[in-house]
Amino acid sequence: MIRSVILGTGSYLPAKVLTNEDLARLVDTSDDWIVQRTGIRERHIAADGEMTSDLATAAAANALAAAGVGVDEIDLVLLATATPDRTFPSSAVEVQRKLGVSHGFAFDLQAVCSGFVYALTVADSLMRTGLARKALVIGADTFSRILDWNDRTTCVLFGDGAGAVVLGTEEGEGTSDDRGLLAASLRADGRHVDKLCTDGGPSMTGAPGHVRMHGQEVFKFAVGGVGDVIKSVFEATGFDGSSIDWFIPHQANRRIIEGSAKKLGIPLEKVIITVEGHANTSAATIPLALDFAVRSSKVKRDDVVLFEAVGGGLTWGAAILRW
Ligand code: ACO
Repeated sequence: MIRSVILGTGSYLPAKVLTNEDLARLVDTSDDWIVQRTGIRERHIAADGEMTSDLATAAAANALAAAGVGVDEIDLVLLATATPDRTFPSSAVEVQRKLGVSHGFAFDLQAVCSGFVYALTVADSLMRTGLARKALVIGADTFSRILDWNDRTTCVLFGDGAGAVVLGTEEGEGTSDDRGLLAASLRADGRHVDKLCTDGGPSMTGAPGHVRMHGQEVFKFAVGGVGDVIKSVFEATGFDGSSIDWFIPHQANRRIIEGSAKKLGIPLEKVIITVEGHANTSAATIPLALDFAVRSSKVKRDDVVLFEAVGGGLTWGAAILRW
């Protein structure tokens, strides 16, 4: 049986840091309000001219170096993003160009904050059908470009960043001890489109629009509505909240993360939380948190890791892998 394994991780955050105190000079908010409601203290903001593909390329280069894999071996670049450089071509193709890849194939995947879990699952499927042998799976977003900087209910929540993994394949016996992606489950429910969306887009207004959100409804769904995908990956693998080693959820808000962990019976020591320093970087939060966890030697060989994400759509998904 062929399984996708993560060969290396990388991440990139823009140099400019915007603290809660900085934000309090822009809108009527305070460090106390933001920290109490979200756990966020600061976020990184892309410089003028620094685009999603630049962040993605830097994260990808770090992941390739960590994996010891050359660009000539990469036959798929899959970039999860809701903030591409341009309407077309895809930013994945820009990443190919910036890395110097001219073979294989590349495309963007749009599932907003669930994008990385979606992309990992899609890449795994492509690897198992033999369409790709080594892939770069990247989550990168520059939400600073689509925020309404006068709207305190949204502009305090997001930041820019990118995370990437190099995916390869490993032949195994198909036992539960195998490494790699063991199970994944994806969902979307378009009835909730308006709960978290932009108020424009290329075909709607001819401009990207700004982020709009019903915060409390999204909060409730993020904690309580994603049980089906978690149940599915637990049932497929036989693991549960107490037997996994690490929980790496989408990093939108510390209260959502803690609420989800409690519901799943996962002790907080097993939860990777990076939202304090990055805010919500949309598709980038999980690979950013994973890279932090790998580089700080938290996630180690054979550890069982659960990813979980929810985002605009609404979309949601979960994946379990053995490191
Ligand atoms: N600073 C100060 N006051 C604020 C701010 C702010 N930045 N934003 C809103 N307020 C005010 C509101 O205007 C309101 O004032 P009022 O009572 O006078 O009307 C008051 O604070 C309470 O507002 P609520 O919306 O009820 O605050 P709530 O406790 O729900 O917290 C929050 C808001 C943090 C957005 C919360 O709903 C949340 O975390 N939702 C999840 C949203 C999220 O994380 N989305 C990210 C994308 S989705 C995802 O990735 C899962």
